[in-house]
Amino acid sequence: MPYRAKIEKTSQERNSNIILAFDFPYENPENRTALFKRAEKVLNEVQPYICAVKFNHHLVLPLGLFDRVQKLVQTTHDKGVLTIMDCKANDIGSTNTTIAQYYFAAGFDAIIANPFIGWDEGLKPIFDVAAQQDRGVILLVYMSHKGAREGYGQTIIEPETGTKTPQYVSFAKKALKYHADGAVVGATYPEKIAEIHEILKERVPIYSPGIGAQGATVEKAVKAGARYLIVGREITLSENPAETAKRVRNLSNSSKPR
Ligand code: XMP
Repeated sequence: MPYRAKIEKTSQERNSNIILAFDFPYENPENRTALFKRAEKVLNEVQPYICAVKFNHHLVLPLGLFDRVQKLVQTTHDKGVLTIMDCKANDIGSTNTTIAQYYFAAGFDAIIANPFIGWDEGLKPIFDVAAQQDRGVILLVYMSHKGAREGYGQTIIEPETGTKTPQYVSFAKKALKYHADGAVVGATYPEKIAEIHEILKERVPIYSPGIGAQGATVEKAVKAGARYLIVGREITLSENPAETAKRVRNLSNSSKPR
């Protein structure tokens, strides 16, 4: 089953659109066994309330892709939860191909890529590898941090039409054109979510990080059109990760437009 259909089904069956960002603070590498156990514990506790886990360098660097990260990917899948690698692929085609192949070989269902690299010899090789293996590619459209406006928020002149356009509008249109499996738009900018949702409608789902630790609220992001919420420190650093994940999940479900 293609990734896009898989996450929709998983989200529906588990009654959750929450994607856990598997982020933990720096640990002395000598303590990586403790980090692995901590990650496993959080996963076990929050799994009833999530549809996917988004891994990042926080775990891949200290734990190793084909070592304990692959184990965590397997454990996540055993619970019926999907896995996304937030590698923000951002290189030339041959390198991107290898990056994608390794993450897919480790079991990831989808990866995140940066559209600034362009299609030919940039994104296309990633989409090709993903299509061969029924995996997903999610594109950044407007990032959640303040400096996002310098890149994703700049005004560009569309090479095809010569018209002035915000960079993120151009990226949203490209996400549609490339049949991306998702578009990442920061929950910290609900007005951008709404504007991008107007372009994408339900054709490309919006994945939105920035809830809690970065100051964004669940209600505004969901009401603006976010389909999936990516939530990290609010859950992973919470005293009770399961309770927090459940609360965020319930809030998200009750914020959905009827
Ligand atoms: P927190 O702890 O802030 O973690 O809930 C958010 C997670 O998402 C990543 N992040 C982003 N990923 N586009 C992305 O693809 C973004 O705009 C973005 N903003 C945050 C962040 O690295 C962390 O893993």
